[in-house]
Amino acid sequence: MHMDGVESAGGQLGAVLSAPRSAAAALGPGGPWLATSLDQAKQVLTDPEAFDFPGNVNRTGDLSGSRGDTRSGHTLFAPVGPEHVARGVETFRREWLAALAEHDRSHPGEPYDAMRLLRRPVARSTTTAVLPSADDATRDRVGDHVLAWIDALAPVIAAHRPPWRWGRVRRAEADTRVALEDALADALAAEPDVDLSPQQAATMLAAGIQVPIAAGAFLIAWLAQQTQAVEPTSAAWETLRLTPPTWLTARVTTREVDLGGVTVPQGRVVFVSPLLLGRLSDLVPGDPDGLDRFDAGRWQDGARRPGAWLPFGAGPHACPGRNLGMGILVALAGWGARHELVLSEDVRIDQSRGISPEPCRFTATPRSELIS
Ligand code: HEM
Repeated sequence: MHMDGVESAGGQLGAVLSAPRSAAAALGPGGPWLATSLDQAKQVLTDPEAFDFPGNVNRTGDLSGSRGDTRSGHTLFAPVGPEHVARGVETFRREWLAALAEHDRSHPGEPYDAMRLLRRPVARSTTTAVLPSADDATRDRVGDHVLAWIDALAPVIAAHRPPWRWGRVRRAEADTRVALEDALADALAAEPDVDLSPQQAATMLAAGIQVPIAAGAFLIAWLAQQTQAVEPTSAAWETLRLTPPTWLTARVTTREVDLGGVTVPQGRVVFVSPLLLGRLSDLVPGDPDGLDRFDAGRWQDGARRPGAWLPFGAGPHACPGRNLGMGILVALAGWGARHELVLSEDVRIDQSRGISPEPCRFTATPRSELIS
């Protein structure tokens, strides 16, 4: 069993990975443009005056669209602090074991499905970190509302054009969003130290739940393809290098800009791809011909800083939950190192919302049982 390489995944992924790397690349006549070096990527991400967010909900836009509206008036999210990260990670550990046990009870002998199994542990972990005063019942309720909204958003985000029965799709999205915001209005009333509106908290929670679920599932898929236990922190970084869930992020130019010697007109889409940057030999140690291979050992000597390929973005809109995201992944990799994981079927890479491995079914046997 194996996972499709992203190189063979085609679609937007294929177009970005095969772009010429000499200068900022135009992916079509008139754009969109792609940053092809770390300097260009930093220029795009750290200058929101010149590179604004796209106005639509889908930040990883459509390659065919070379023009875009911008969305101004950004929220700046404060980073999740260390104490809340620690509580979130602790919640994840507990809820992950509970989810495994619940699956073993309700579906004995059946493989786990990583994208499903990670939902509640991640939802409760992130909700604990973002709403630290919430009691368990409130946390669980809010977490479930966020998952429902994430699910209802999926067809809206995946649609290249409005789907059949768009009205119903939009209504389902609006209904789940309003239910979440109502639950959040109550929960936030008990959070004197959290300075977020219900809408902002909903955005933070959705970003902080959907992405780590995909990252955790990729981590499991990679670990299941290794022949021996892998050091957890290196495994987490290597997963975010080869399969960063937010593999592509878009900005729209607010004026004409010079990007690595290339002139990009105003109102055009520019992409930054952590997945592309993660394959640049100046950012990643190891054999330049082997950068598409999972090798957690490349991070072990500490010679090169992991994360230079920007899996959490950069600049004022870099990920405020990066320490929690890493904490969840390292906790999951720690559990993975104590088990032999085996994929139950080939894993495909879904590109409809960032990237995620679907399905990602696996079995897990404690290594201690294997030795005896
Ligand atoms: C492994 C896990 C995670 C990864 C790989 C990840 C990745 C990213 C990336 C690449 C961005 C920047 C997108 C852009 O510039 O367009 C981002 C933004 C964001 N992330 Fe994360 N993230 C993770 C976990 C989390 C968690 C746990 C939270 C919440 C607690 C969170 C909340 C957010 C928010 C609110 C933004 C938007 C920031 C802004 O627009 O100012 N993320 N994330």
